[in-house]
Amino acid sequence: MISTKLGGDNAAIHDEKESVGSNRSGNTTFAEIAATRRDVMAGSLAAAVSGFLAPKAFAGYSEGTGIPEAKQVEGGLVNFEPVTIEQYTAQSEGGTVPVISSDYEFQVLIPWGTPIVPGVAEYTGDPNTRPTAAEQELMVGIGHDGMWFFPEAGATSDGMLCINHEFGTDSHLLGKDDPENLDDVRLSQAGHGVSVVRIAEDEQGSWDLVFDDRNRRITVNTPVAFDGPVAGSPFLVNPAGNPPLGTVNNCGSGFTPWGTYLTCEENFNGYFGIVDPNYQLTESQARYGFDADGFGYGWYNFDPRFDISNKDYVNESNRFGWIVEIDPQNPNQPPVKHTALGRFKHEAIAIQETPSGKVACYMGDDERFDYCYKFVSEFRWEDAIQAGISPLASGRLYVARFFVTGRGRWIELSRRNPTLREAFATDEELLVNARQAADLVGATPMDRPEWTSIGQNNTVYWTLTNNSNRTEKNAANREVPNNDGHIIRTREFGGDPESQDFSWDFYILASSTRESEGVFTDPDAAYVDPEGRLFIGTDGGQPDGLQDQLTVFDTTENLGPGQDPTPKRLFVGVNSDEITGWATTPDLRTAFTNMQHPGDGNPQNTNFPAMTDGVTIPRDCTIVLKKRDGGVVGS
Ligand code: FEO
Ligand code: CA
Ligand code: CA
Repeated sequence: MISTKLGGDNAAIHDEKESVGSNRSGNTTFAEIAATRRDVMAGSLAAAVSGFLAPKAFAGYSEGTGIPEAKQVEGGLVNFEPVTIEQYTAQSEGGTVPVISSDYEFQVLIPWGTPIVPGVAEYTGDPNTRPTAAEQELMVGIGHDGMWFFPEAGATSDGMLCINHEFGTDSHLLGKDDPENLDDVRLSQAGHGVSVVRIAEDEQGSWDLVFDDRNRRITVNTPVAFDGPVAGSPFLVNPAGNPPLGTVNNCGSGFTPWGTYLTCEENFNGYFGIVDPNYQLTESQARYGFDADGFGYGWYNFDPRFDISNKDYVNESNRFGWIVEIDPQNPNQPPVKHTALGRFKHEAIAIQETPSGKVACYMGDDERFDYCYKFVSEFRWEDAIQAGISPLASGRLYVARFFVTGRGRWIELSRRNPTLREAFATDEELLVNARQAADLVGATPMDRPEWTSIGQNNTVYWTLTNNSNRTEKNAANREVPNNDGHIIRTREFGGDPESQDFSWDFYILASSTRESEGVFTDPDAAYVDPEGRLFIGTDGGQPDGLQDQLTVFDTTENLGPGQDPTPKRLFVGVNSDEITGWATTPDLRTAFTNMQHPGDGNPQNTNFPAMTDGVTIPRDCTIVLKKRDGGVVGS
């Protein structure tokens, strides 16, 4: 019997808990922002405010400081035949199978339960059984999300894939409503985390997992290391003396110029709960959304690390909420948690090199009314690597404040700021509580920042997925409520990612597509390819009978004043799934995306990737995308 206690779709799990948000700071209403800029922008404020009603109002704001239009490509970058609403309705067999553009083909790769080492039988979705925890530790996990492909030297179609396993509900992963013992918890834990696996394309063009000494699973029970200011501090020490273990709720991803993978810990609070009924949450724990029963995984009932009220593990929760670096080539490397990048519900990370050779990292904190962040490394990344230290171990963390003028400011989160020096005794305390630091400096509360990706001219794309609880607009979040979400772009002045001043604009409001053939809502995963195609994966109920989808924009499209960019639908998933994650081969001719929680694990909704039989448990999987004519994916 499949449980529905967590609701009919994934949205129920996350949205229920995030429906209010934990940000009580009351930062920056629209009126306040307008007022704060009145002195500075005196002459142009009225024009800026009146332009507030047009999505493209801030594009090309002023010469040299706006978002420069990308260089046009003759004939356009995105020319495939999109999946129409009519086509999806006709071909999806009631939402039980995905539908792809007629110019494309897809293949399923590494579904949940795929062995990563020889000698383990695949779990193929038998509803009467599940893997044991020990078996699951040797298999691809569930909840496929962010990923990246690291090709072997000189190869395009052979390399290491790092892939996140964000979450699987107990009903899906365990086949029962709640864990009944520690073995059940260990299975759930083994299903979460990260897989590092070699994949390669054979001569027939089919991709498969390859057994390799570098293949490994990283779970919440894998030894990890910390670096940065919080490492070695009391904030990470428990009376139990237990060593730091693991990563969890690995949502989006990123990759570094030095060849490593970054995985982002998002809804880590959801695995913790409270056993002692008299326990009172600290202010910090409340701000990070911890509560009595978490997101329903029940780990805390059998694994004391996840019981917030257990005094022996009083700081265990501080060990989560970080950006984590993984070396795909070294199976013995403990993943490293970079505390300099701040602790929050890290969705994803995009990195670009600055003109001086440092790196700038753009990161969203996905909760209603939380913030957009940037980190700039202290050292040139090549110097740091040569010195044997991580470029992400030290630097400056910033949070974004958006103004209605189309400009914005990265506000530094450090004790150099007198307000923060007063509020936090140490840098460690500040970084563990980055959300509260951001509250204090007037960051702009956003509509759930999800992925970031870097396009042409050092322009950063940010997906804001939705916020049904927004009652008051602000500069960068103008829909009340924001049921469909939007995408904004930012770019530092002069295109220098080290600058604290930036321009921004609305790239598209998803609601503006409502009456169009390209309709989409709830933008989440985002990736801009090196030529300028923006791939968006959605997460939320799609209109017109569609399911979650992969849609593509040409960021070099020639847009007239007030004209929105054109989404083209490449792929549509199945009932109650989410399309997320992106990776590509270096030649851009093979791309990978993920189908997460198909059918929410319920075989009544879909049996994908198995043939439809009404019985087989659907399995999260990677979808390999190729253009039939061998062209670049998205073209
Ligand atoms: Fe894991 Fe905000 O998506
Ligand atoms: Ca997401
Ligand atoms: Ca989402």
